[in-house]
Parts: sequence; C-alpha cells; structure tokens
Amino acid sequence: MGTSKTSPLVTSRRITVASLRKGKHEGRRFAALTAYDASFAALEDAAGVELILVGDSLGMVVQGHRSTIPVTMDHVVYHTRLVARGAGSALVMGDMPFMSFATIDDARRNAARLMQEGGAEIVKLEGTGAQGETVEALSAQGIPVCAHLGLRPQAVHKVGAYKIQGREPEAAKVLMDDAASLEQAGADMLLLECVPASLAKKITEHAQVPVVGIGAGVHCDGQILVLYDMLGITPGRRPSFSKDFLAGAGSVPAALEAYVEAVKSGTFPSTEHTFD
Ligand code: KIV
Repeated sequence: MGTSKTSPLVTSRRITVASLRKGKHEGRRFAALTAYDASFAALEDAAGVELILVGDSLGMVVQGHRSTIPVTMDHVVYHTRLVARGAGSALVMGDMPFMSFATIDDARRNAARLMQEGGAEIVKLEGTGAQGETVEALSAQGIPVCAHLGLRPQAVHKVGAYKIQGREPEAAKVLMDDAASLEQAGADMLLLECVPASLAKKITEHAQVPVVGIGAGVHCDGQILVLYDMLGITPGRRPSFSKDFLAGAGSVPAALEAYVEAVKSGTFPSTEHTFD
C-alpha cells in the first residue's frame, strides 16, 4: 500500500508549536499569514508560510462587515476546515471569535470545536491578563493557545478606535506584565498587534515562547499579515504596517514567496511599516 499525506497513519506535517519554539531559540524568523480557504492555504504552504491563521478578520475581508464582532464560531469552524484541507505542513491556527471564550466552559467547548470540527492545531484568543485562567484551563486540556495582545479588534467598541497600544509607559508596562502572565498561564505563543517596535522587542526577548507580530516591528520572532492586505486587494485603505507584495511580483505565488523571503531575511517590516 502506498503512503500519501492523506493517510491517517502518516503525517507530512513538519511545523508544530514545538518546532516554532525551537526556531525562536535558534534565531530563525517565521512567516505567517491569514487564509480562509483551501486554495490560498495550499499556495501559502507551498511558499513556505509556517503558520496559517484562520482569523476572525474574515468578518471584514470575506464577509464585508465593518468589524470582526459579527463573526461566529460556526463561521470560523467552517473556514478552518477549508484551510486545514489545503495546508500541507503549515501549522493551522483557529481564531476564537467575539464572546466565544466569555466563560471557561465556553472556551473549552469552542476551542474543542475548532480542533475537532475545524482541524485547528492551535487556537488564538484576544486577551489581557484577565484571560489567564482561560488560557490555563485550555492548556491543561492539552490545547495550544496563542494569546493576542496589544490592539484587540474585538474590543474596538470599548477602546473606541483601531489604534496603537502601549505607547505610554504605564500602558507599556501593563502589556509587558500581561504577556508574562499569559505565558506563565500556559500560552504557547504570543501575538502582538500594533505596538511600538521597542516594546515588542522587549516582550519578544523576555518570552520563552514564539512572539508573532503585526504592526509590531521587525524584532518579533515571526510576522503575520492579513492575506488580502499583502495582496493589495483589501477594499479601502491598506493598513500602514502592511505592504502590497503582489505589486511588482507578477503572480500570487511569487508575492507569497517574496513575503516569506522578506520576513525571514528581516527586510520586512521596515521602518515605514513600524510604529515607535
Ligand atoms: O483575525 C485576524 O486576522 C488577526 C490578525 C490581524 C492577526 O487576528
């Protein structure tokens, strides 16, 4: 009987939470992107993207909403299932949508759905230090968690706008403390969105787990962008921390490869895509 990557007995997967952690300690940067379907997941995987996030950004770039708030568990589970089918060796991360981890029971039930029905290998939740018990409860069940700090789009109506976080010294200290306490609670990865590069550098140096940044400067262990932003097809204005890799690349596969190369070599993000 021949072996194939679809055999339940054989796995071709190479990228794991543990391998990304090892890469951090060996000084290897990794490239991550969002995806929402099997075709783009397969292209990203072929280009060397090591982490694919099925982000609740799908509410904005796929569904056309003005925020991520309307996204439900059913939506994320569905898109995660599509992405997991297309991803070859990349680690698949499923996003916990608004209010899906409001209680620890909700978090357990919904993270289990993302893994069992969607095929996610790690779940991401937007949080502060207040989510420590949730992270601990998931981690205790063997569920890898990425804690998303800094700009938390699910909190946009509370914060008032999509804006840079951690600029003031007190706010920077809160973010540093939150990152440390969520790691202590069992987070296997941290994601920093829209924070000054100097703060992201400190958090990355302090953390033992990989730190992936978006609008957080070049010193994070990995970089992530919303796929549609880096292909220049997001309706409206592209975020200033993103870059259109399709312009000049000639094809989607070439754009994805250019992004991976730029992240790994440390040429993206440059200062024009960075906040201080
Ligand atoms: O939902 C998403 O795509 C995200 C990224 C912006 C990191 O959380």
